[in-house]
Amino acid sequence: MEPESVEIFIAGKSINAKSGETIVHALWAAGMGEAVKTGCVGGVCGVCTVSIRFQDGRPGGTDLACLRPVEEGMEVFPCPVESIPPIGPSPDPTVESLQAAFPTLNRCTKCGSCTSACPMNIPVMDSVLRMQDGKFDEVSEDFTTCIHCGLCRLVCEDNVKPHNMGLWVRRSLGMNRNNPSLAPATQEQNQVEREWNYLLTDDPQERFERAKRFRKHGGIEK
Ligand code: SF4
Ligand code: SF4
Ligand code: FES
Repeated sequence: MEPESVEIFIAGKSINAKSGETIVHALWAAGMGEAVKTGCVGGVCGVCTVSIRFQDGRPGGTDLACLRPVEEGMEVFPCPVESIPPIGPSPDPTVESLQAAFPTLNRCTKCGSCTSACPMNIPVMDSVLRMQDGKFDEVSEDFTTCIHCGLCRLVCEDNVKPHNMGLWVRRSLGMNRNNPSLAPATQEQNQVEREWNYLLTDDPQERFERAKRFRKHGGIEK
């Protein structure tokens, strides 16, 4: 049976998509692949983050376009999250050095928007509060799965920059020679680098196939 046709909108332009396919595949089929940036096409890199709403007023939230199936009346907006230059980590991170690097640390009003926006279900707001308390090991753990899509920064009206701070904390702990977790962290970083090289191969079709295998096996196939 032919899949049902659904109408979606990308930045206001109507597209006919097939029920069951992802937003990214619908855009590719419509010759509009450039409308949303893609990287791994497997839910790993976060490059394809979009915000979604529905014509009937239902909220759609934020999601990864390479994973989210199309739905009738879906309106898709690419997220304009610009990266900012990284701020150098500290070999001995403290609340004071974090605040010196990110003066807006204590401006958090506990609105929860960052946690709601995070496509990786990271407890972003709670982690900002842990940063204020200097609980850096826990913060580092919180941001392990961060894909740096930048949405938590985009939605924060108080310019708190949660994920940039989370990355700063992780890098700072990794720099500290007295930190007993340094060796495993280095191993972990090497593994992450291997996985990125594997996933971000130049050929788009091969990239897609690798991303599917990566998700199926939970990593690079042995
Ligand atoms: S969006 Fe900003 S102000 Fe709101 S909880 Fe997150 S960090 Fe705090
Ligand atoms: S950048 Fe922010 S919103 Fe995106 S995955 Fe990381 S914590 Fe979540
Ligand atoms: S392209 Fe969607 S997460 Fe990488």
